[in-house]
Amino acid sequence: MSAPRPQPAPALRERWIAVAGCAPSAHNTQPWRPVPTGSGVRLTVDPARTLPEADPRHEDLHLSLGCWVEALAIAAAESGWSLQTGPVSGVGPDLVLDFRFTRTSAPALTGFTVRELRARQVDRGRLLPDDRALDAAVAEFAALPGCSDLALSQLPEPLFSHLQAQSATHVLSTPAMAAETLGWLRLDPRDPAYQRDGLTADCLRLPAGTRMLAPVLGARAAPVVARALARVQPLARRVLCTADTVKTLPAATAASSAVRAVLPGIGRPPARLVVWGRAEDSGTDPIAGIARGRDLLRLWLVLGRHGLRVAAHSELKDCPDTREGLRAFLGRRGREGEPCGVFSAGRSSSPVPRAPRLPV
Ligand SMILES: Cc1cc2nc3c(=O)[nH]c(=O)nc-3n(C[C@H](O)[C@H](O)[C@H](O)COP(=O)(O)O)c2cc1C
Repeated sequence: MSAPRPQPAPALRERWIAVAGCAPSAHNTQPWRPVPTGSGVRLTVDPARTLPEADPRHEDLHLSLGCWVEALAIAAAESGWSLQTGPVSGVGPDLVLDFRFTRTSAPALTGFTVRELRARQVDRGRLLPDDRALDAAVAEFAALPGCSDLALSQLPEPLFSHLQAQSATHVLSTPAMAAETLGWLRLDPRDPAYQRDGLTADCLRLPAGTRMLAPVLGARAAPVVARALARVQPLARRVLCTADTVKTLPAATAASSAVRAVLPGIGRPPARLVVWGRAEDSGTDPIAGIARGRDLLRLWLVLGRHGLRVAAHSELKDCPDTREGLRAFLGRRGREGEPCGVFSAGRSSSPVPRAPRLPV
């Protein structure tokens, strides 16, 4: 009879689960609901922590879960255990995924440390460009073993600005979507939820005055505010995204290159990056989504190693028009694929407020 497989002590597993909670997630929803099992951990989803309006295809949900899985693997590896993932069942809020852990005699290296995990933060403040650090990070990421099909392309600044303007009001484009977005805003530091989840005024870098809007933009007032916003939304889109912007795009590209040639480094924006997968859709295919989420976190950690932080702009791939724009951009470069994330990468120019987390 073979000896029973060694199992990690329950307290150790709980510690890994606590560390995995520092993974990033869309709107800081922290949708994971891990349950310790006899020999491992079962990952399930808290449906109340999903974004059915902003993320109807569950793409960001699968990516966020992938970030959590990678964080769990990093925590376990640091204690000398490697993570084995079982088959995935279900999609989106119905997803269930079992993990087991195997003791490894050699250190089970994911290549990342819990310290790096904890140091990672999204920075919505001013990011300063650093081309050399970016090139080194991208080369290091490309050389990582066992990556999914996640690929990376840099967006020209005029195209990014255009798509950003076009998608700026996407999360408010229907009353239901606006209510969902406002429901995850945390504007009042006295609100107990401010310490738990969502997008806080500090992390969004909102000026002190905006916080006085907390009672108006609070969860109960959200449907009314959302209806009003949805009414002004078409007008806002017309102002932000005129046909002229598209026509002037080539001229804007040339002008910005000329300015940069003369004034290198002055007022330059950070790098704008689109990540994309080659075949399966990260929403309908949870396995692809989780694998890409794992790589997305690895990519952000590698950028962190080179002193760079990111600011995510998911609205560019969530808004149907701008998603098409990203696809067209990739197609023009011979990269047939589905965009699954957009973010800026640069050096932080000021201390970054910590996003809250649920107590474990
Ligand atoms: C799949 C995914 C999509 C995200 N999209 C956005 C986004 O569109 N805008 C944004 O400001 N942050 C976005 N984020 C970052 C989260 O809001 C952030 O991870 C969360 O607030 C926790 O903050 P932290 O990463 O600094 O710990 C995204 C994160 C993930 C994993």
